[in-house]
Parts: sequence; structure tokens; C-alpha cells
Amino acid sequence: MCGIIAHVGDKRALGPLVTGLEKLEYRGYDSAGVAVKNGNGLDVWKCSGQVSDLKDTIDTVESSATLGIGHTRWSTHGPPSDENAHPHTDQRNRVAVVHNGIIENYETIKDILTAEGYEFTSETDTEVIPNLIAYYLDRGNEPLAAFKHAIADLEGSYAIAVVVDGNDSIYAARQGSPLVLGVDDTGYYLASDVPAFLDYTDSVVYLQDGDTVEVRADGVDIVDGNDEYVQREIEQVDWQPDETGKGQYEHFMLKEIHTQPTSLQKTIEGRLDIGGERTNLDIDMDLTSIDNVQLVGCGTSYHAALFGASLLNRCDVSARAIRASEYDLNTGTPPEDTLFVAVTQSGETADTLGALRQAKEAGVSTLAVTNVVQSTAAREADEPLYIRAGPEIGVAATKTFSSQTVMLTMLSQHLARVNDEATRVDNIDQLLSDLQDLPGAVDGILQSSNASRLAEKYLDMNAYFFIGRGLGCSVAKEGALKFKEITYEHAEGFASGELKHGPLALVTDQTPVFAICADDCEKTVTNAKEAQTRGAPIVAISPSDHRIVDTADEHLSVPDMHPVCSNLLANVQLQLLSYYCATELDRAIDKPRNLAKSVTVE
Ligand code: AGP
Repeated sequence: MCGIIAHVGDKRALGPLVTGLEKLEYRGYDSAGVAVKNGNGLDVWKCSGQVSDLKDTIDTVESSATLGIGHTRWSTHGPPSDENAHPHTDQRNRVAVVHNGIIENYETIKDILTAEGYEFTSETDTEVIPNLIAYYLDRGNEPLAAFKHAIADLEGSYAIAVVVDGNDSIYAARQGSPLVLGVDDTGYYLASDVPAFLDYTDSVVYLQDGDTVEVRADGVDIVDGNDEYVQREIEQVDWQPDETGKGQYEHFMLKEIHTQPTSLQKTIEGRLDIGGERTNLDIDMDLTSIDNVQLVGCGTSYHAALFGASLLNRCDVSARAIRASEYDLNTGTPPEDTLFVAVTQSGETADTLGALRQAKEAGVSTLAVTNVVQSTAAREADEPLYIRAGPEIGVAATKTFSSQTVMLTMLSQHLARVNDEATRVDNIDQLLSDLQDLPGAVDGILQSSNASRLAEKYLDMNAYFFIGRGLGCSVAKEGALKFKEITYEHAEGFASGELKHGPLALVTDQTPVFAICADDCEKTVTNAKEAQTRGAPIVAISPSDHRIVDTADEHLSVPDMHPVCSNLLANVQLQLLSYYCATELDRAIDKPRNLAKSVTVE
């Protein structure tokens, strides 16, 4: 939800700022803007629309400024507009601010400042920050002190970067929203996420909540929440700059679908011991007394959680997937022997972090299955379990769903092994060896899929239904989410058996039904036939020799592997189907309307 970037150093700032915004656009694309410090004041360019619109307005600018800030917005307070675009300034243009998060007490601050004669031109919560800093400057404070006083007055969540006219520092603060510091020989970068500056440096300092930072071209001071100067470790990230570009692909989503063989390979690397029939997960926790698992996430991550819970239940480990946004309503106090698993690609989703904090308060053990190293979930859970899928830029999660489900599969086997009363999943040796073959099998699907032909065939329909049982039910739900997210067509995913309990009323010859039959699915065949009898075209996603193929109108083939793998391969077919339908419909595939990749508000 909003991306911020800042740079100070030897080079002209506009280049790294705009590059950074392009890399952060997945966090929001309602408006974009930059502010740089020039010899005579602050220059601000901003507009509603995407970073490409901003680029059009600053293309001819010859700014030699070496210090500046930038922002790409996902609207919360006030609609997308030029006025609501960041950076926001005080009325005399002395202070410019970019902000990711929500200032909860902004109305109170606005009332106080308005009474003091400060004027506001936007509907945003953020605009109170430059005016508050200006208020403290007007009362004789130096910029650093004015910034610190202002921060102390704010309630809510924020990552903020500030430039002050006539001053060579960038001031920044982190509280509940991500902020990382990049370091190279020529200067410093501050950003919501590492890819923003990965073209320039892979040396990163992960700032902590409560940190305030003053960054100059020649150095940086970090002060922690206890007002102590601290040194934070510089870490090298192992993401490569080309991982954050589209490469040969037209869209990030297509690239991310196609790089799943590699990302899956990284997820399983060193974690499978096939001869020993075990998984090697480096979890430094005593899990022997765990007999209840809560898997909690949102959207796609929730579907991965459903997949994991289904698998754990098959191993006689009691497990439940819970939507993070409903956690407080649906759980009560978890028993002591509960393991809480936050499933979150970004590690920054507010709903998931809220549930994680609630579980921690209840005193249960917590894990975070996440992609982003040092993300908030990774740091706040007792242990992170990194899925190692590499940066995912497309708003629609693809490769991270595959990696999350494989990670949860390995976790389920790990828990089953350490928990004496649990049983291993059926055919554990086949599961482990098929998991090792999964990257190659995904490659096979990518080479042979006929999803693009089916996308064309079923383009102008009224609605799209996805059905499956067990593991296939989570794949059906995920298939429908992906489909609606990027095509804007109505799609629903549910347990096959539920079709006859209501949704069948919607079924016509204009509602294709995608039936996932990669697992135990005799009943799904019956349910698909019930829909077919009412005129619905049936597309089976199954091994080629499955009997559903004889009755289905069309077929997307998956190899006959362990059900875990066949279901994940069915999901790859559905990713392709959604992608090709969305391209036919000319949708903004990587930036679907109204969405953002990382949802940091509840
Ligand atoms: C999926 O395509 C979505 N973009 C969305 O549902 C996402 O999975 C959800 O917002 C959770 O994000 P997280 O994994 O970063 O927590």
C-alpha cells in the first residue's frame, strides 16, 4: 500500500527516484510524485495516474539535485487525484513528505494546525506531517528536532521520508510500515522494499519499528525507539537486479508463472531427504507437544493455508486455515499446544500481522511462512520459514502460491514426524520424490499447455466456476481468485459438493465449470456432470487417463503424480488460463484496478 523511495548521494537523484518508483509500483498505482532539493528550494512533481504519467511530466527536467524523495500511491484517505498525490508539502513549500501507512490522529492534528493558521489542500492524512514539521520549525526548532517532535505527535503506522528546504539530510522514520536502507559507495537509498534500489546496491540495513534516521551523502545516524544511537548490521541480499525486471516477458505475471521451476527448486533446495523419507526444515523450536495448528493468511496466502491445513488433517494433525481478517472473531484463546503459522508472501499484510500479534499475546508458538527476508512477520514470529521464491512484482500472486504450498507440505511432514501420534501422509516416499520432480513437471506444463486456446474459446461468458475437493478445493478457490483479480470477470471457487446446494441455480450454458480432478475426485466427476446436464461447458483439469476426460468438453492436462503435486500443477494450468483471458480482454495484468500487492491496512 504505497511505496516510498528516497536518495541522497553523489548522483542526480531523479534517476534513482524514478527507477525506484517503477520497482515499487506494485504497492500502488493511483498517483506518483517526487520532490528534490534544488539550490533555491524544493521542486515537486506529482500527478494522479501511474509512474509512466509522472515520467511524462518530468522527462525534460534537467535537475542536478542529488537529494530527493518519491512516492507511488494506493489511496486510502481521498480518491486518486493530483491534490492527493504525494509528496505533500506545507503551504510555504519548506517541507516535503512521502508516507506509507495511516496517521490515525490526523483529524485532531489538522484541527489544531488549522486553528494556528496552517492551510490544507488535500484530503489525505499525510498532509498533516509536513505542516506539523513546519509548525515546529516556526517555533525555532532545527529541522532534526522539528522532525522528531512531529513524529512524537503521530499515532498510527508509518514509513516516512522528509526533505527540508536548505538542508542536506533526509529524515525518515519507521513505525509499523516497512522501510529499508540501501548503502553503496556513492550514497544512500531509503525504500519500502529492496527491489526499489537493487539496480544500485544489494547492501541493506533493515530498519526496526521505532527507528528514526538522518541520512546525509556522507553518513547515516539511526536512533532507536529508546532514543539511543544504534548501529544496525549491513546485510547482503541474494536477489539479482534482473529478478526485478520483466526480462523477455510482456508482463511480470507471465515471467513469474514461467520462473516457477526455478523458484520451486529454491524452495525445496536442501530441505528434502528422500532416502531418509524426511524433510529438513531448519526450525529451532520444540514442536513435539504441538497438536493443533492454525494456518492464517489472506487471499492467495489463505488458499495456501487451506491446502496446508487439508494436508495436516490427512496426517492426523488437527489443523485449521483461518482468514486473518476474521481471526479475532473466529478463534477465542488458542490452547497452549497450538502452533500459529502466518502465511504471507510480503510479511507485511496488516490483517495477518494483527492475527500474529493476537496469537503471540495468547502465548502460543508462531512461525511465519514468508517470501520477504526480514519482513515484519519474519521478525515478529518466533521463527521465519522462508519460501525463497525471489521477488514477486505482479500483483497477482503466482510463484509464491506454489512455493508456499510446497513449504507447507514440507512443514506438514516435519510436524507429522516430530509428533508421535501423527501419521505420515500416504506414500511419503512418492511425495518426496515427486516434490523433487515438481520443477520439471511445471516446466512440462508451461511447454505444453493449451490454456491460451481455452481462454479464447470461453471468453465472453457470464461467469466462471471452479470446483474441486480436498486439496483441489483450495486450488479451485485460488483459480477463481486469480481469474477475477486480473480478468474482472465474475468467478467463484468452491468445494465440488457444494454446487448442488445453491450455486447450481446460476449454472447455464454461459457458465463454464472448471473441474479439478487431480486427486480423490470421483464425486467431482458426478458434480461436473450435474452442471453439464444443465448446459454448462465442463473443462477438466486432470491426468489424461482420468475418466472425467471422457465426459468433459475440454481438458487441461496434468501429470499423474502424488496428489500434492498434481493439484499444484492444476493450479499452474489455471494461472495460465487467467493470464491468457486477461490478455484477450486487454486488462492491466500486473496492476489490476483497485488492488495493491501489499495490503498494509486492516
Ligand atoms: C493474490 O493474487 C493477491 N494479490 C492477494 O490475495 C494476496 O495474496 C493477499 O493480499 C495476501 O498477501 P500476502 O501474502 O503478502 O500476505
